[in-house]
Amino acid sequence: MQPAIEVRGLGKSFGHQRVLDGLDFTVQPGEVFALLGVNGAGKTTIINILTTLIRPDEGTALVAGCDVALDPVGVTQRIALTGQSVAVDDVLTGAENLVMMGRLSGLGPARAKARAAELLERFALTDAANRRVGAYSGGMRRRLDLALSFLVTPTVLFLDEPTTGLDTRSRRELWAVIRSLAEAGTTVLLTTQYLEEADQLAHRIAVLDGGRIVASGTPDELKALVGVATLDDVFLALTDKESA
Ligand SMILES: Nc1ncnc2c1ncn2[C@@H]1O[C@H](COP(=O)(O)OP(=O)(O)OP(=O)(O)O)[C@@H](O)[C@H]1O
Ligand SMILES: [Mg+2]
Repeated sequence: MQPAIEVRGLGKSFGHQRVLDGLDFTVQPGEVFALLGVNGAGKTTIINILTTLIRPDEGTALVAGCDVALDPVGVTQRIALTGQSVAVDDVLTGAENLVMMGRLSGLGPARAKARAAELLERFALTDAANRRVGAYSGGMRRRLDLALSFLVTPTVLFLDEPTTGLDTRSRRELWAVIRSLAEAGTTVLLTTQYLEEADQLAHRIAVLDGGRIVASGTPDELKALVGVATLDDVFLALTDKESA
């Protein structure tokens, strides 16, 4: 089977700072893959390259069979992205944001409206549906932003720190949504700083440090690798080794 994501020798520098340094990884279709790393590890840079927002300096990346450099349109047709900064229109209501984006994604008017109502319900925004987004709280904006990325079912879904800024209940709800999407066949690449989140959600985890993947495997494999019980310990052990 063709991998959903295949990254080979990816390198990226900003000025003199080498952010990605020969990165390799592969994600299989239907897999939930977590990139785990601290602030500045390069998580958003990887997502930006894979979603064609920026170009790598070296290496190749295939997403849903399309090369990000040679066929960026092919890539964008097969993916959805929720970025780290919220991208909703303040002037419109929550419902209007969803319907507009649904129409832009090719849904008919009735289908876009129905889908908007479903997602407002799923992300606990029904009561706020007809309020302007400018008046939403941070958590509500985040949930609306996530709802937008679930409008159409993509082949590959990219989520950059999806639960940052969500309360515990919303976080658990989002985990459930991500799991059901993966069960239906969507590949998910998410970034997180939360070890619990990676442990809960991901089939496989890659630990990012110094522009490279310093360890990868299932949550259990990672724990076995360094002979410690929790992913927190894995992370500490690996990143200590790197800086030593
Ligand atoms: N456009 C840019 N210009 C210059 N430096 C950049 C740019 N984008 C990212 N960087 C630098 O690259 C490094 C990696 O940034 P990136 O945003 O990928 O990290 P991250 O893992 O997503 O961090 P966070 O957890 O804070 O979101 C950082 O040191 C950052 O300052
Ligand atoms: Mg980031």
